[in-house]
Amino acid sequence: MTYQGQFRVWRGDQDGGELQDYTVEVNEGEVVLDIIHRLQATQAPDLAVRWNCKAGKCGSCSAEVNGRPRLLCMTRMSTFTETDLITVTPLRAFPVEKDLVTDVSFNYTKAREVPSFTPPADLRPGEYRMQQIDVERSQEFRKCIECFLCQNTCHVVRDHDENKPAFAGPRYLMRIAELDMHPLDVADRRDAAQDEFGLGYCNITKCCTEVCPEHIKITDNALIPMKERVADRKYDPLVWLGNKLFRR
Ligand code: SF4
Ligand code: F3S
Ligand code: FES
Repeated sequence: MTYQGQFRVWRGDQDGGELQDYTVEVNEGEVVLDIIHRLQATQAPDLAVRWNCKAGKCGSCSAEVNGRPRLLCMTRMSTFTETDLITVTPLRAFPVEKDLVTDVSFNYTKAREVPSFTPPADLRPGEYRMQQIDVERSQEFRKCIECFLCQNTCHVVRDHDENKPAFAGPRYLMRIAELDMHPLDVADRRDAAQDEFGLGYCNITKCCTEVCPEHIKITDNALIPMKERVADRKYDPLVWLGNKLFRR
């Protein structure tokens, strides 16, 4: 089943741009990325789009479809009707490079700021042993494909560039939670989460969780537990003393 679909695609660069209308052939089984590729091949050879795997695993093709943050390669055309006008725009929280490609370097900057896994100083390679049960909680977070849809969606930065320096965003607060839950990590993640990475900005709206293509329960399983750990540290004198004496 083939039909002519109506699309509206943002075209432009750092200096500005506009939505342009296109009519593009749609075939059964296609995803929005197929349409963008057909548009490139037939009408707009200079249309910029970032993609790689076309399998929902590289996290490159993030954009917004009808205003909703999505992976273009995982958004099936069958979820729309033949008469729907489908609008494709670049991620809103990051500066545009060209057309659907944004500069996501904010995320790499935040990633670099999180201190890496820190095992006890006297633990030698080969002694890194732990039980499966100890890693189960944080294993979920390792499914992240770094698509940055959660980073793009969180209202703390979505329309507030001014919050970016103080807020690492859900993906990197989740990384801090993952390390804090790691049985062999001894770095102080809790004060840093609050003071340096802006955990307090998160008011658990869960928009990040809603858009995660890996269905990671970012808010319930990473951010809220991390807030509880920070609260324990800050407000419970016994926990505070225990942490001082025994580090965990
Ligand atoms: Fe994407 Fe989910 Fe990872 Fe956020 S946590 S970057 S939405 S895969
Ligand atoms: Fe933002 Fe997610 Fe918290 S959307 S406010 S980081 S729950
Ligand atoms: Fe890799 Fe879409 S192209 S996730």
